Amino acid sequence: MPNIIVDKALCTKCNICSSICLMGIIKPAADADFPCIQSANENKCMLCGHCEAFCPAQALTLDFLVEEKIPFIRGESCIEPERLALYMRSRRSIRHFRPEPVDKETIRQILETARYAPSGGNSQTVQWLVIYDTEEVKKIAGLTVEWMRTVQNTPHPFANYVSGIIKAWDLGFDPICRNAPHLVFAHLPVSDFVDDRTDAIIALSHFDVAAPAFGVGCCWAGFIRMAVDSYPPLLEALALPDKHKVGYGLFFGYPKYQVGALARRQPIDVVWR
Ligand SMILES: Cc1cc2nc3c(=O)[nH]c(=O)nc-3n(C[C@H](O)[C@H](O)[C@H](O)COP(=O)(O)O)c2cc1C
Repeated sequence: MPNIIVDKALCTKCNICSSICLMGIIKPAADADFPCIQSANENKCMLCGHCEAFCPAQALTLDFLVEEKIPFIRGESCIEPERLALYMRSRRSIRHFRPEPVDKETIRQILETARYAPSGGNSQTVQWLVIYDTEEVKKIAGLTVEWMRTVQNTPHPFANYVSGIIKAWDLGFDPICRNAPHLVFAHLPVSDFVDDRTDAIIALSHFDVAAPAFGVGCCWAGFIRMAVDSYPPLLEALALPDKHKVGYGLFFGYPKYQVGALARRQPIDVVWR
């Protein structure tokens, strides 16, 4: 497990690292020595890297994936609030796509961005499945419609809703993935401890928000999500690793139409106490 590498020429012994460490395992600097993780505590480190991130002197490196550390100028990541608000308000669900595929490198870069999503206990258990082949996307959509056929005329709460979707599919429309060229799923291990898909959904939200910066549009695949847990042929077609479950999925591609007006929403409903 990692320790911290302290640049003794830069460290001011301010001890922000030891006070910020969530696990409380960084021994504060004393007059003679510098902050450190005592070896008995190294295995308690959750690799969050807050010690490094919040060091005002940039004197500290968590000895973990060091090759990923790049020079960072404080303030470099700032976005003016107005600009961020415009970006967020112009993110829309995309349901009409150009037929050409998104190149894999672009998808990889969006995933790289989503990789920095937070996760409970910094567990980072989320994995990705990209259905790149458009024919496979069609197959997944078709299996979702097959599931809908099984709930039609049953007491299932969705039963009344599915007829229109099935009819559209049978007429050659794709109401499930909207003829998107690709699908992405965030999946994670089934846990006996807690049935929680939150980490996967947060990671996918990062994907959804990052994608328009790459010219890519997404939409949450709600119908697939509804079907996937109760229709084994669909889960089998996804072929996730053993004992993994789907958090959620997005269908995505290059938008056919461009956003030219901002979203309007209900006012914020908030209670202040
Ligand atoms: C959890 C979730 C599931 C959704 N499922 C679908 C879906 O299956 N099909 C679809 O066309 N849109 C789906 N949507 C998109 C919503 O309809 C859309 O977010 C909402 O109408 C607001 O529009 P906007 O995203 O363009 O701002 C889903 C959205 C969320 C958050």
